[in-house]
Amino acid sequence: MRVDVVSIFPSYFDGLELSLLGKARATGLLDLHIHDLRGWTGDRHRTVDDTPYGGGAGMVMKPEPWGLALDELTADSPSARPTIIFPSPAGEVFRQATAREFAHRDHLIIGCGRYEGIDERVFEYATTLGEVRLMSLGDYVLNGGEVAAMAMIEAVGRLIPGVVGNPESLVEESHEDGLLEYPSYTKPSSWRERAVPDVLLSGNHAAIAAWRREQQIVRTRDRRPDLLAD
Ligand code: ADE
Repeated sequence: MRVDVVSIFPSYFDGLELSLLGKARATGLLDLHIHDLRGWTGDRHRTVDDTPYGGGAGMVMKPEPWGLALDELTADSPSARPTIIFPSPAGEVFRQATAREFAHRDHLIIGCGRYEGIDERVFEYATTLGEVRLMSLGDYVLNGGEVAAMAMIEAVGRLIPGVVGNPESLVEESHEDGLLEYPSYTKPSSWRERAVPDVLLSGNHAAIAAWRREQQIVRTRDRRPDLLAD
């Protein structure tokens, strides 16, 4: 999978060189490119923002650098219609199902906005080049799209076959079956007067599976009743 990220803070993404995703990049499973939006500016100050028409607080990202960035990155795309993602608190919520959907794409382009956002015409123009998705990480406001982009790259990247060593660990985790994950324990069996639940030491695999399922349901009901309603 190819992923291109456009940001005015490319060094945010240095952390993606670590751990499993870093290995996926080194082995070529994830072809990740981070670009500085200012590379598509033409003026001496490499200006990316300006004041909003109609007034109001803050600055808006200018359309011209974004247009040039999208032209270049889509012209060189391995996909006839790349998926162009803009992190935004005004977007649809990014979920595990979205991560699964994006993991099937050949090419993701992620445009990270800052300030009060990107000139709206950029989103319209982008629909002529690919499938445009405005994605929110959740109902809170970040300073820009970078942290959201990193979260999405990690959630999608680990679903690329071969990125996570043991594919079974993908099946049993939170959200894969619509429920939260069951609790986990390791040695010692007693720690600071707290014992591991007996059933996990019983060797009875059917009883362990039933207990874990029950824990998933109890946890989901207590912590995330909205998931059960869905
Ligand atoms: N940019 C600012 N806030 C955001 C959020 N909650 N999700 C995605 N992108 C954002």
